[in-house]
Amino acid sequence: MSAAPSVTPFPGYSMGRLDDEIVNPELYENETIHDIYARVRREDPVRWTAPTGFRPFWSVTKHADILEVEKSHQIFVNRLRTYLSPIEGEEWVKSVTGDTHLFRTLVDLDDPVHMKLRGLTQSWFMPPNLKKLEARIAEIAKAHVDHMAELGPQCDFVKEIALWYPLRVIMMIMGVPPEDEPFMLKMTQEMFGPGDPDVVSQSEHKGDRAAYGAERGQTVDLFATAQKLFEYFGAITVDRRKNPKDDVSSVIANGMVDGQPIGEREAMSYYIIIATAGHDTTSSTTAGGLLQLLKNPEQMTKLKTDMSLVPNFVEESIRWVTPVKHFMRTAMQETKLRDKTIKEGDGLCMFYWSGNRDDEAFEEPYRFKVDRNVTKHVAFGYGVHLCLGMHLARMEIKALYNEMLPRLKSIELNGTPKNTRANFVSGLKTLPVRYQMT
Ligand code: HEM
Repeated sequence: MSAAPSVTPFPGYSMGRLDDEIVNPELYENETIHDIYARVRREDPVRWTAPTGFRPFWSVTKHADILEVEKSHQIFVNRLRTYLSPIEGEEWVKSVTGDTHLFRTLVDLDDPVHMKLRGLTQSWFMPPNLKKLEARIAEIAKAHVDHMAELGPQCDFVKEIALWYPLRVIMMIMGVPPEDEPFMLKMTQEMFGPGDPDVVSQSEHKGDRAAYGAERGQTVDLFATAQKLFEYFGAITVDRRKNPKDDVSSVIANGMVDGQPIGEREAMSYYIIIATAGHDTTSSTTAGGLLQLLKNPEQMTKLKTDMSLVPNFVEESIRWVTPVKHFMRTAMQETKLRDKTIKEGDGLCMFYWSGNRDDEAFEEPYRFKVDRNVTKHVAFGYGVHLCLGMHLARMEIKALYNEMLPRLKSIELNGTPKNTRANFVSGLKTLPVRYQMT
């Protein structure tokens, strides 16, 4: 690990404070993180950052630099550091698993093993296979919009619709029965929001370890969450080895790499990344897009008048919400990024939400436009780790809006929307709405 290079502190900020803020989950919750990002992009876009309690890293905040890091996957690797985690959390993971990760999911691995594992399910998530699922996804979308109509004239769009819809789709793809959905939802919320007070209060296993920047004593015990998921998917593996079905779980359970069955930890991690990455992200985007339509009624009118804009609206919602806020890489050799020399062993954190508000990449990035032609956001990452589920996510969100928009006669906010308190995967946790629909 290299020593911190000398970077001129910004006026008005002590170095320490800004460095603490860029990882502070509260700023993600109230969205003031955008002020921090804008300032870093303008004044020191590749910034050496040393938050209290974390190993230091380079904050990569510009769209072009995020693409550069993603493209250079042989220089910037995943396996050593994947997410922002306090030193205490990292040490705890090491003591439990013997290496730097709780799981060995695709995002924790590098090639060649990453590509081999990814290859097992990739075709499942490509458009030709998804086409076969389109009618079932449309049915699930309709059932959720019907439910919204029954709940009318008011509901919490996140808690009653957006959280459940993508969960049902991903569980259908994995062959998991609907009665297990509340369990999966809880486990995902614990994985992604272990420091969120609402998540902690509902968890049966509270921890006292720092996780994702949360204070000691305010977290979920992620090891207990992981064990529960291992038990659950362990039973699924046994079943699918005996009785393979036409689902993704069967592909994973019977997956072979280099002529050998994939390891237990790799299989568990595979289920977990698909089950968890596959719904929280999509539900945050679905709800976040609706909130922007409510805040910008002229955009709602434009969209309802021209439904051919739905794909643009979906892409704009993904750019706007950017539910995955960051991923990390580690440099394997000395290299340059913009004006900085990155040393071998340095960590880099790609702040995707910042890249998606970069005015060198997007015109008027702080305006939500349903007719924006978004072709290059970084919400799905880029390069060899490009989101495996991006076509599925787009298809799901489109299906819901295609069903919902024509049935909505009116809709307005009916309370204060709230975001989760998390700096990794985050988005709305409540969106009260009042509406009339058919
Ligand atoms: C709007 C929804 C979603 C967003 C914004 C999103 C975002 C991301 C991001 C940023 C990455 C890392 C990319 C990188 O490192 O370059 C990723 C990876 C991944 N995503 Fe998604 N995701 C979404 C939905 C889904 C869905 C529905 C699935 C379901 C299968 C999924 C499965 C995965 C997997 C398996 C990876 C790991 C890929 C790899 O490392 O090779 N995601 N996603």
